[in-house]
Amino acid sequence: MADRLTGKVAIVTGAGSGMGRAIAEAFAHEGAKVMLADFNLETVKETQTQITGAGGTAATVKADMSQEADIVNMVKQTVQEFGQLDVLVNNAGIMDNFKTVETATDDLWERVLAVNLTGPFKAAREAVKVINDQENGGVIINNASIGGLFGARGGVAYTVSKHGLVGLTKNIAATFGTFGKVRANAIAPGSVATNIGTTITDPDKMGYQAIAAAGAEGSPLGQPEDIAALAVFLASDESKFINGDIITADGGWTVR
Ligand SMILES: NC(=O)c1ccc[n+]([C@@H]2O[C@H](COP(=O)([O-])OP(=O)(O)OC[C@H]3O[C@@H](n4cnc5c(N)ncnc54)[C@H](O)[C@@H]3O)[C@@H](O)[C@H]2O)c1
Repeated sequence: MADRLTGKVAIVTGAGSGMGRAIAEAFAHEGAKVMLADFNLETVKETQTQITGAGGTAATVKADMSQEADIVNMVKQTVQEFGQLDVLVNNAGIMDNFKTVETATDDLWERVLAVNLTGPFKAAREAVKVINDQENGGVIINNASIGGLFGARGGVAYTVSKHGLVGLTKNIAATFGTFGKVRANAIAPGSVATNIGTTITDPDKMGYQAIAAAGAEGSPLGQPEDIAALAVFLASDESKFINGDIITADGGWTVR
């Protein structure tokens, strides 16, 4: 066990799989007490077992990021269980089969925006109320995507949701990071080996053509732990002068 996050309490959404699980495990390894949130209680319990088995501290809460009541409850449960909240990681997110502005249905658009953008906004709203009143403040980390920085790394709904998440991050940073006690930063991962690929069941031809032309097939592939290492840094006091940044972690895909 290490101690870069000792004394801190964190919420990680989407902690049942992929980057959320790796972030939660890394946080616990660094001494944080972690509230593991996911709409899949079974997988998030597996994450809890891993963490407690390794000597860490974690609790679970069922939270669907498209449901406001779940989000309010997630923050409330965290404070009840651990007495404070220092770090919110808005990580849960879904893809959109690369559907274009022509082929995205209202249902798809609304679902993707609800989970990837409105949920993080509502979670940040609840978290800020707690964090800003604490003596030492705290941190919000949004797991965006290079899809939040470029036009062809997802379909229209995913691209818009992640661009929105980048804007949410910057606005929180410019208000509560500058005039309050809540730093906010985002991570923009490229391709990372997680379960999200299994949700690409019906890729749109034109949408896929666009992401393929942007080099998706030859893009470097990161591991969830690569993103978790960055999240630990952003959650820790080592990054106390970093506020409002969107940090790309894509192995150099978008630099070329
Ligand atoms: N994997 C990549 O290549 C990649 C690249 C850039 C950004 N991202 C982003 O990283 C984040 C994590 O994705 P991942 O790749 O680890 O995916 P993943 O599918 O492995 O894990 C996502 C987790 O989020 C949970 N989840 C999904 N919808 C939810 C909801 N409505 N409420 C609560 N939990 C929900 C799932 O149950 C799952 O545990 C997402 O926001 C995704 O957009 C992924």
